[in-house]
Amino acid sequence: MALSIAVIPGDGIGKEVMPHGVAAVQKAATADGTDIAFEWFDFASVAHYREHGTMLPEDWQTTLGRFDAIYFGAVGWPDEVPDHVSLWGSLLQFRRVFDQYVNIRPCRILPGIVSPLRDRGPGDVDFVVVRENTEGEYSNAGGRLFDGTGREMAIQETVMTRTGVDRVMDFAFRTAQKRRGHLTSATKSNGISITMPFWDERFAANSSRYPDVEVDQFHIDILTAHFVQRPHTFDVVVASNLFGDILSDLGPACTGTIGVAPSANINPEGLFPSLFEPVHGSAPDIAGKGIANPIGQIWSGALMLEHLGLPAAARRITDAFEGVLADADASVTTPRRREHRHNPLVRRGDHLQDLTLCSAPF
Ligand code: NAD
Ligand code: IPM
Ligand code: MN
Repeated sequence: MALSIAVIPGDGIGKEVMPHGVAAVQKAATADGTDIAFEWFDFASVAHYREHGTMLPEDWQTTLGRFDAIYFGAVGWPDEVPDHVSLWGSLLQFRRVFDQYVNIRPCRILPGIVSPLRDRGPGDVDFVVVRENTEGEYSNAGGRLFDGTGREMAIQETVMTRTGVDRVMDFAFRTAQKRRGHLTSATKSNGISITMPFWDERFAANSSRYPDVEVDQFHIDILTAHFVQRPHTFDVVVASNLFGDILSDLGPACTGTIGVAPSANINPEGLFPSLFEPVHGSAPDIAGKGIANPIGQIWSGALMLEHLGLPAAARRITDAFEGVLADADASVTTPRRREHRHNPLVRRGDHLQDLTLCSAPF
């Protein structure tokens, strides 16, 4: 079987971690007897914007639509292009046009990585955030009124459709069934009085179709506190676009670093290619230093292989980085920056310059 993958490194550390990801995916697939053809693209980057005045070429949808999957790095360079321009001009287009309405973001303490949470180690944090990925708070509905006057105002609507909410919840319930049978919903229906009560209503309606899944729900504010104080009580967490975005940085931070966190932007029907990318961004503060942790990119590659029907190859990758992490000498794998030395939240695992899984035992 030969698979084709579009590789888009993007900006900043996206360009640094992507070669590690591609090497790992290539090696694992080959060991599994699968050929993969990678094609690299330089669009969805600020460099492309500089040259063409747009983040994407006009025919991007046809170009990418013929691949089995998209392997993405990170995009954004706010010093040069405003973030809303670069992101709405690239990644957010991919998610919406390719109807990747589920964003799966696993969150697990890996061996050898120290959680900033006291007395928490591997096994204590192991949950998945299922984020709604195409609507919600990330809508383009709204506008600016009275621009340039003293009465200027900006309005941006949250859009929740029954189809959109039901389909991501359905996916989350089925994910919970395959795991420990527990689903938590992130809400804020006490303060956000139209869309969030609708979200809760659909959660209740959907849960009646899954009597085998135990459910609970929390307002987003206290849920963030629970993530820190009792992370072991979560299995699958379903959340709207913005809440899911926030929870999927907080969760990985609780596991030690967002540098390892992977994500899968899925179109479950397979009508369009799905997209796999680390949770983190282009990290301008460390770009060019060669210290970015490549595990988020590599683990996303494992999610991609799993999605493509190659669970054994995916397992080779996760086994490899877990093995490397468990064995690694912290003094070799952690080039800490001076400003991080006294920050208890940034510890081993944040930067793993020397970790090249190309040499890991596949
Ligand atoms: P960021 O994730 O890029 O960085 C946040 C912090 O985490 C920084 O201190 C960074 O050094 C650190 N970090 C991130 N990834 C790391 C890694 N692999 N190894 C070690 N440290 C790592 O978030 P930000 O600073 O808010 O955003 C920077 C740019 O990236 C912005 O343009 C933003 O819009 C964009 N962004 C893009 C994506 C994406 O492409 N999916 C995601 C988030 C942010
Ligand atoms: C993510 C990112 C994006 C998001 C940004 C860069 C638009 O933070 O993938 O988590 O908010 O979805
Ligand atoms: Mn995010």
